[in-house]
This record gives sequence, structure tokens and C-alpha cells, in this order.
Amino acid sequence: MSETRSVVLGIGSCLPRNVVTNDDLARKVDTSDEWIAQRSGIRQRYIAEDGETTVTLGIEAARNALAAAQVEASSVDLIVLGTATPDNTFPASAVAVQAGLGITGGAAFDVQAVCSGFVYGMTTADALLRTGAFKRALVIGSETFSRILDWSDRTTCVLFGDGAGAVVLDAQTQPGTREDRGILISRLRSDGRHKQKLFVDGGPSTTQTVGHLRMEGKAVFRHAVAMITGVVEESLAATGYTVDDIDWFVPHQANKRIIDDSAHKLGVAPEKIVITVDRHGNTSAASIPLALSVAVADGRIKKGDLVLLEAMGGGFTWGAVLLRW
Ligand code: UT7
Repeated sequence: MSETRSVVLGIGSCLPRNVVTNDDLARKVDTSDEWIAQRSGIRQRYIAEDGETTVTLGIEAARNALAAAQVEASSVDLIVLGTATPDNTFPASAVAVQAGLGITGGAAFDVQAVCSGFVYGMTTADALLRTGAFKRALVIGSETFSRILDWSDRTTCVLFGDGAGAVVLDAQTQPGTREDRGILISRLRSDGRHKQKLFVDGGPSTTQTVGHLRMEGKAVFRHAVAMITGVVEESLAATGYTVDDIDWFVPHQANKRIIDDSAHKLGVAPEKIVITVDRHGNTSAASIPLALSVAVADGRIKKGDLVLLEAMGGGFTWGAVLLRW
């Protein structure tokens, strides 16, 4: 029986102008290129300058995605933006992006799932498109984590970066088999008992400040691999696919060691893994669409490929999306 699927029509991204290498950081913070690269795989990150914000980066990424999809902004009736670093406490950054794109109809809102924001955003948009209430969505991950980092804390400030990525999702009728194009399955999870392991120590209702990111890196690392592999295995089992059927594994880019350990445990061949953490650092909700953008632009991900996305972040939140490009 035919089914409505959310099919990716196009992808775009936007990075701040300013590249900061590990050596640049080592001039300001007690760290080294060797430590950062060895522990995380990161070599450089992009850091937003004055005038570059979650909204401006998000608008540019969305414009690039619309151009790649060859559709008008006015055809979009849903915007879901994943961010933990909005321009304002309210309104949602999605609404500012909507206005920046000149869209006046439909609905726009943010999702707050930190590093899992893009996976949560894709799943939310997919569910809404499948109801028939919306026809075409922009799913955006956009972050300026540099603005919530404590630059005197070397255990966190070297790991994150800024950027944005976006996809255009189109509701299309497909045959209703696992060979369909579009999102085939997704799984979302959270467990708030882990809040203190990765959080921001401020907020409007508590300190009336924005606060700074705090992380127990080792504890996050310990949970990450088990959570990621669990949700990926559940998603694959629900479709009957195995890990060997996947063409591309596009994980959240937090740490190359987490990516490698998860891929190894799942049995994903190293040549199928898309890695961009070396050049972008951890850009939270933006990391997956940024990685997808790179792999589409260089010709690795092609129409018809089976692509597995996964993420894990503060909360904890985690999840996976399996889609055919
Ligand atoms: O999106 C999800 C969010 N976050 C993550 O996924 C992060 C998960 N965690 C990690 O990626 C890793 O735990 C880190 C990269 C954060 C840290 O790696 P680690 O191998 O767990 O290192 P560690 O915390 O055990 O630190 C080892 C040493 C310590 O020194 P001592 O106590 O052994 O003398 C730290 O003080 O490295 C020191 N250190 C640094 N040295 C140079 C910590 N940060 C730095 C630094 N430069 N930036």
C-alpha cells in the first residue's frame, strides 16, 4: 500500500568565516594540537564573529538547501530548527529564519534536544508531513556554541564549533516498501537522570543568565557508545535491514573515538563512515547536516543510497534516522 514519505530534495550548509585551528587555541588556552587531535580527532573549528548568529547561519544554510532543491522558499510550509543556542530566549529562531526567507505562511518552531537536535527535528518534521497537514519542510540544525563556552575551561572549550546545515523535505507518495526514498524509520530516546553530565549552568527561569556549558566528558563518553548502538540496532531491526545494507553512516560529530567505537561495535565498515569532526569540531545540532552536506558535495552520497544518521547529547537525548537519499 502506498505511503507518504519525507524525501530529501536538497541540502545546504553555512559556516562562519573565521577558522580557528588547534594551534590558534593553544596560544590562548593551556592545550595543544596533539592533545586535542589525539583525544577528539578535532583539528580546527569555525567560530562565529560579530554579526554571525544562529539565525543568520540558519538562513544561509536554508537558502543553500532551497537552491540545491530548486524550489522556492514560498513553497515551504514547515520549518523545524534544532538549536540549543537560539538568538533569543523567544521567539524561536525558526520564526526569525522564516522571516529572513520571506515566508509568511505555515508553521515554524525550534526543537531543543542539544546534539540530537537534527535527529529530533527530522523525526518531528517527518511525523507532521506524514499527517498530510504540511507538504514541504525545512529541517535546520544551527548553533553558535562558542557563545556558551567557558573559554577558561580547557576540558570543554576546545571541543565545540559553530555552523548550520539544512535539508528540504518533501512529502511524496511512495510505494510503501523499504525500497522507498525518504525517511524509512526513526527512533528517539531521552533519559533526564543524566542532566548533570552535560548541561548549561544558566537559564531564564533559574539564573536569568545564559550560562556556560559544563560537561563530565568521561561520563558522556561512557554512555554514548551504548546509547548510540542500541538505538541504531533497534532502527535497523524495525526495517529488516542489516548494517551491511547501509551505504553511508553519518553520525553526530562529537569525537572521532566515539564514532569509531560505535561503528566498530555496530560492524560498520570504516569506508562507509562520514567524518567531519576534524574540520568542524562538535557543532551540536548542526553536525549531521554539515557532514551530510560535505558527503553530498563530494559525490559520496547519491540518490538512492541508504543513509543512517545517529546522535547523542545533553539530557541525555539520543536517536537514529534511517533514510534513502
Ligand atoms: O555531543 C556530545 C557531547 N560531548 C561528547 O561527546 C564528549 C564526550 N567525551 C569526550 O569526548 C572525552 O571524554 C574528552 C575529549 C572530553 C576528554 O578525553 P579523555 O580521554 O576522557 O580525557 P580526560 O578527561 O581523562 O583528561 C585527561 C587529561 C587530564 O589531565 P590529568 O588529570 O590526567 O593530568 C586533563 O586535565 O587531559 C587533561 N586535559 C587537557 N590537556 C590538554 C583536559 N583537557 C585538556 C586540554 N588540553 N584541552
